[in-house]
Amino acid sequence: MPEETERSSVTLAVNGQQHRLRLDNRTTLLDALREHLGLIGAKKGCDHGQCGSCTVLLDGRRVKSCLIFAVAASGSAVVSVEGLADGDDLQPLQQCFIDHDAFQCGYCTSGQLCSATGMLDEVRKGWPSVVTGDLAAGPVRLTEEEIRERMSGNLCRCAAYPQIVAAIRATATAEAVR
Ligand code: FES
Ligand code: FES
Repeated sequence: MPEETERSSVTLAVNGQQHRLRLDNRTTLLDALREHLGLIGAKKGCDHGQCGSCTVLLDGRRVKSCLIFAVAASGSAVVSVEGLADGDDLQPLQQCFIDHDAFQCGYCTSGQLCSATGMLDEVRKGWPSVVTGDLAAGPVRLTEEEIRERMSGNLCRCAAYPQIVAAIRATATAEAVR
């Protein structure tokens, strides 16, 4: 049990709900979600920032929650996979993952969904990636190469990559993300 001086008050707005926790300073955001709030959608694959299965949105930006101390995220808004759907209504991205069989075991899927949600937002904002060609050529075109590069931080041990790319491509087309 850590000394009281080794604990901090942490305030997190998770999926629109405010939480106040008293946590060991070493608690990661991933462990705060899973162990303290019972939100087990974000998965612990590597706990080292290498697999992406723990990806959530932090103030709208995708992050690997195993690499962030909860205390450093205090005051921020977190969206985990549990917060993507509107009640029983899935987001188009979630439905496209189902329609395209974009998973097998599903262990990476929550991270893929949160990462793709953040990534589509980045494209809407016109943020380039390392494979974006001419930065002066106008809006980013979300080609398969762009999707693969932008999702390269999310590994899938089942290698469902072609279906994941297809699902994201279909979502982008439906939502007119170029
Ligand atoms: S568990 Fe966070 S990147 Fe693997
Ligand atoms: S669906 Fe099994 S790891 Fe991606």
